[in-house]
Order: sequence, then structure tokens, then C-alpha cells
Amino acid sequence: MTTSLAKLVGAGMLAMATLGAAHAADDATFQGLGGKAGIKKIVATFIPLIQADPRIKESFTDIDMKNLALRLEEQFCVLSGGPCEYKGKDMKEIHDGLNITNAQFNALAEDLQIAMEQVGIASRYQNKLVAKLAPMQRDIVTK
Ligand code: HEM
Repeated sequence: MTTSLAKLVGAGMLAMATLGAAHAADDATFQGLGGKAGIKKIVATFIPLIQADPRIKESFTDIDMKNLALRLEEQFCVLSGGPCEYKGKDMKEIHDGLNITNAQFNALAEDLQIAMEQVGIASRYQNKLVAKLAPMQRDIVTK
């Protein structure tokens, strides 16, 4: 009786440890970015950098930056494996007609990296997030 209970508990703990490990592997980038609070900080640092960047700031005049910040938070959370839902528009649809160039795309990606650096995100997680954004270039750049 004692043995089987011990075995059962042992099996349960093993299962939990395995599931825990799988979960940790999936959301490692999300954790590396500091979870939801960390992503909020990154976006709050990123937005003013975008608005001050002479290479791209004109694109963001008359844009609802509060909405943009919320959508970016959701998007970064999902992309990094966090427990979120992206409620914004498709990348192709929202950037269509904005005539975004490769240089502008790179400028924005650079600002994001500066924001992550300022917030103190480890470079391996900075790179993970940027790597997730890179394939979006073909949907965003139209010029
Ligand atoms: C990796 C690159 C980029 C990502 C991940 C990204 C992501 C997003 C997201 C999530 C939204 C909000 C969508 C929504 O409201 O439903 C958005 C909107 C917008 N993005 Fe980007 N973006 C990128 C690059 C750029 C670049 C390079 C520019 C211009 C220089 C730009 C200009 C805009 C503008 C103006 C809006 C607002 C459009 C509107 O409200 O009508 N984006 N972007």
C-alpha cells in the first residue's frame, strides 16, 4: 500500500516535472523578456524611441499610440510563447499603403533592440524576439 502510493506520487511528480520542463522550454523567451511586466516595460520604452526617430517618426503622426502599444504588447507576448492573445490586425493588412521601406523596417527593429537593451533584457532573448519579427518584413515592407 505504502509502496504503491509512493510509486503513484513519484509518477505524478515525474509527470509534473516533465510537463513543467516542456512548458519552461516553450515560454523561455517570454520569461527572458520578463513576462508580461517586462514586455510592458519594453513597449513603453520602445514607443518614445519610435516617435523620436527621424527615420520613421513621420509614419506615426496621427496614430493611436495607446492602441499600438497594447497590440505590440500582445504580439510580443504571443511571439515569445506567453499566455496572450493578439487582438490586432494582420501585419499585411495594417501596413498596406504605408509605403514602408526596408530601411524603415530596420530602423524600427533597431529601436526595439535599443529599448530591450535599456530595459536590461539579455541579448539572447533580444535576438529571439527580433528573429520572430524578421519574417514579417515581407508583409510590412511594400516599397
Ligand atoms: C517588425 C516590424 C513591425 C511590427 C512587428 C509591427 C507591428 C505593428 C502592430 C502590432 C500594429 C497594430 C495593429 C493594429 O492596430 O491592429 C502596427 C501598426 C502600425 N505600424 Fe507597424 N510594425 C512593424 C513595422 C512598422 C514600420 C517599419 C512602420 C513604419 C515606419 C510601421 C508603422 C505602423 C503604423 C503607422 C501603424 C498604425 C496603422 C494604423 O493604425 O492604421 N510599422 N504595427
